[in-house]
Amino acid sequence: MKPTSSIAARLARATSVTALIVALALPVAAAATDTQPWQNTSLSADQRAALLEKALTPDERLSLVHGPMAMIFFPGMKLPEGAIGSAGFIPGIPRLGIPAQQESDASLGVTNPGNVRPGDTATALPSSLLLAATFNPDLAFKGGVVVGQEARSRGINVQLAGGVNLARDPRGGRNFEYAGEDPLLAGTIAGAAIKGIESQHVISTMKHFAINDQETGRNFANSIISESAMRESDLLAFQIALETGQPGSVMCSYNLVNGAYACGNDHLLNTVLKGDWGYKGYVMSDWGAVKSTDFAVKGLDQQSGEQLDKQVWFGAPLKAAIDNGSIPAARLSDMSRRILRSMFAAGLFDSPAPVTVDRAANAEVSRQAAAEGIVLLKNEGNLLPLAATAKNILIVGGHADAGVLSGGGSSQVTSDVNQVAIPVGGEGMMAAFNRMNFHTSSPVKALKDRLPNANIRFDTGRYPAEAARKAKEADLVIVFGNQWMAEGDDAADLSLPDGQDALIATLAEANPHTIVVLQTGGAVTMPWLGKTPAVIEAWYSGQKGGEAIADVLTGAVNPSGHLPVTFPQSIDQYPRATMPGLGLPDGQVFDVHYDEGSDIGYRRFAKLNQKALFPFGHGLSYTQFAYSDVKVTGGKTLSVSFKVTNTGAVAGKDAPQVYLDQAPGGAVKRLIGFSKVSLAPGESTTVTVTADQRLLSRFDEKTGQWLQAGGQYNVSVAHDAEDAGVTGSATLVAGIRKP
Ligand code: BGC
Repeated sequence: MKPTSSIAARLARATSVTALIVALALPVAAAATDTQPWQNTSLSADQRAALLEKALTPDERLSLVHGPMAMIFFPGMKLPEGAIGSAGFIPGIPRLGIPAQQESDASLGVTNPGNVRPGDTATALPSSLLLAATFNPDLAFKGGVVVGQEARSRGINVQLAGGVNLARDPRGGRNFEYAGEDPLLAGTIAGAAIKGIESQHVISTMKHFAINDQETGRNFANSIISESAMRESDLLAFQIALETGQPGSVMCSYNLVNGAYACGNDHLLNTVLKGDWGYKGYVMSDWGAVKSTDFAVKGLDQQSGEQLDKQVWFGAPLKAAIDNGSIPAARLSDMSRRILRSMFAAGLFDSPAPVTVDRAANAEVSRQAAAEGIVLLKNEGNLLPLAATAKNILIVGGHADAGVLSGGGSSQVTSDVNQVAIPVGGEGMMAAFNRMNFHTSSPVKALKDRLPNANIRFDTGRYPAEAARKAKEADLVIVFGNQWMAEGDDAADLSLPDGQDALIATLAEANPHTIVVLQTGGAVTMPWLGKTPAVIEAWYSGQKGGEAIADVLTGAVNPSGHLPVTFPQSIDQYPRATMPGLGLPDGQVFDVHYDEGSDIGYRRFAKLNQKALFPFGHGLSYTQFAYSDVKVTGGKTLSVSFKVTNTGAVAGKDAPQVYLDQAPGGAVKRLIGFSKVSLAPGESTTVTVTADQRLLSRFDEKTGQWLQAGGQYNVSVAHDAEDAGVTGSATLVAGIRKP
């Protein structure tokens, strides 16, 4: 048995910042003797957690269920003792070898809020929405591995990643942190990313549970939605992500759902998550989302970022509630046991020392993801890829000389200490933190590297007339259109801000060969679309985004991204033209009626027969793909097999999509399967997808079960949600499935 290595002793041995971080981070598992029953690695995480929980004193239990922020958020704040510095911290219990929980944001990489770990940088992945656009869960998994590995190398063992809320509104400020509008796609992609993080012995969260689909008044919005609608949409996305990724924790959200705060929502947390879904991990609050002690009874297991709440509810008040019998002591045991269980399950007690990180390899994962998630929206006359004959190219706007845009808020990654950050300002608590950050991967530089013989100029676009004058002299123009989105703020509308729509229109008039590269958090409306032959949606493309954009423009990469969200013609095609809660004072609770139910995005467009600007699933390639030989088998569920052929002249990747079009009850548009295939010219492959029965069923509120009607089901294998595709059908038997 080794003697306990005290934090002080480890700090004294640390000779550098990195060593200090590692010293603070290493689990103090050596403190416990190897004769302790919970150290028996042949027992399950449940058994070990149950044994260890019994050894805790009541105060130790309490110490596990709440904790502070671990950043300097308010002037005068100090880091909690033992904290590495990140989003949050829960102290360990050295006596029993329980490591501290060092919690960092988020899905796109390990963040360094307020430079709390001076000079520390991490790999920045593209936005989660771009990852969803890859339609490739393997890439999402690889991205998760990068994030998990980099977290662990710093001693961070809880990664606040796994955003899976559905994009109900294209103006949603955090849509870029989520994985689109479809439950199957979002759940699969977010689940794969979570799995990647957990594979590195780091707990991943899944967030923000639930129906937290707008940022406007996010602390006061009361989401009103029927049980069946949420089960078939947002909750289904969470359920699929949970089954796929097995996250150790779930972060409940700020908003209310049907009248009860999400973090104190007995129905969501106890009935659905822990009851129906049998979730064994723990629920942590979002930072500042706890309103009272009895949230513990409603299913919340841990109060996070407690300085942001009115009280440390899960400290002294919870102790008092247990002492006076208003909250059973068994509940506190359950809370701490759940936390320990996730720590055991992820290997926080048993995993070996921190890994070494290959930043170049991780940057390559980020580049690969970007290259597969960039979407070629329009390519009239095959203007792209750029012709080798283009000698005079003008690039305009978007700070494309500095780097690529990233989204703001808690998910913001510092990939380079010198990355350009432009203060955005504004009102409110977040104003001082609002900065447009550009990862240092300049598309201008990347294009110059790839086209050494071309004359490439850059114009900032500040004076449209001057940019237009230069545009007339160029063979072609590449104009960047940026929409910076951030946590806490929804877009006011779907335009490109700061007059960029007008700039693009001016350039397109000056030079008919004007290519638009969008860097947006989600959908925008493109009033200039008719004037421009080519448009690329590059989203927030991460720390290698400039290279990936240049590769797509030059054809070094054949684009294969597909839209994970509908791009509408107008916000009027959505159910709430005015953002609910807009202009209301803080503190005033307001209702958001999700009357569209589970018909989000393309499903509602199909129901109302609306045409999108670009539909969900859309994405062009420099080659073409054809679908044939569609065979559908029925019975219990649908199995659809089909042939995909690359009918064009270059190799490429395709994301064939299988939609349900008609069920016994009537027309219903729903993605029931997808794949990502890579094919050489002329090559074919056969794809088979088997539908998850929940996607073919409706959730019955009376029985609390999924009901699948017996009868004929029509499907199509299609390029996007508006493509009629190649059709087939089969008959299914009626079925019932537990929630
Ligand atoms: C965000 C969470 C984040 C937390 C900690 C909150 O404001 O909503 O997504 O994990 O802060 O930084």
